[in-house]
Amino acid sequence: MKVTVVGAGNVGATTAHILANKELANEIVLVDIVEGIPQGKALDMYSAMPVERTDTRIIGTNGYDETKDSDLVIITAGLPRKPGMSRDDLLAKNTEIVKSVTEQVVAQSPNSILVIVSNPLDVMTYVAYKASGFEKNRVMGMAGVLDSARFRTFISMELNVSVEDVSAFVLGGHGDSMVPLPRYSTVAGIPLPDLMDKETIDRLVQRTRNGGIEIVNFLKTGSAYYAPASSSVEMAEAIIKDKKRILPCAVWLEGEYDLNNVMVGVPAKLGKSGVEEIIQIKLNPEEQEALNKSASGVQAMMGKVNV
Ligand code: LAC
Repeated sequence: MKVTVVGAGNVGATTAHILANKELANEIVLVDIVEGIPQGKALDMYSAMPVERTDTRIIGTNGYDETKDSDLVIITAGLPRKPGMSRDDLLAKNTEIVKSVTEQVVAQSPNSILVIVSNPLDVMTYVAYKASGFEKNRVMGMAGVLDSARFRTFISMELNVSVEDVSAFVLGGHGDSMVPLPRYSTVAGIPLPDLMDKETIDRLVQRTRNGGIEIVNFLKTGSAYYAPASSSVEMAEAIIKDKKRILPCAVWLEGEYDLNNVMVGVPAKLGKSGVEEIIQIKLNPEEQEALNKSASGVQAMMGKVNV
């Protein structure tokens, strides 16, 4: 198993580190355009492997030759948000970056599966899908796992219960219009609306929507990376181990959820072929409307990019 991580910034490097510590790949290639950074971080991580007792070779590089024949490629390249910026403010610059990265990745690894992490997430996943020419099951975006992880964290804080017992569902685009679904979010199997009043749920939903910006405002010089990296690894692990996990991911829809030709977050089954199935759950009219609104927001931005 060979995994390439493009982008040796905080998200990319942390992703590579977790993948290595979990021994999910025999070889990890960390790519970045900044000279020295991928080499230095990779060598540092490689040197931790004897202590961690995991057999992962980690190589850092500024080019793509070393990425040849990767099974899985996680693309984190792009500019992160600063305070006052929305994810959409990154659109033009990151389109250029993600398009060029995808073309170079695909030239070396035509049979790989792509997991996109760059923002604005749904549109960047679309850019990679188009630029790769891959079938839709081999290109997906990481956001739903992160957004539901945040929702789970806030639910667990509120109820003072283990995060392990909390599962949560978030659909839609990775932006202010994301659609957390309290009805499908549970604590030890008990639906959220049976455990807290509407006001509390609304407050936690709002905090989830603002989960990214809350961290940007603390950090000031960048955005979140521990939870984004863990979330990317959870998707990678499902694919590498052919686990058939059901995880919310940005995927290309062709009629599912009554949505057409849009890249947006819905539950998907992940295994060795990538997105093996899109899981359709029954939404009530209010939830469907929220998903439609979120998808049209993504579609409007998709119309602005040139791929
Ligand atoms: C976040 C950014 C990375 O949600 O989109 O933290």
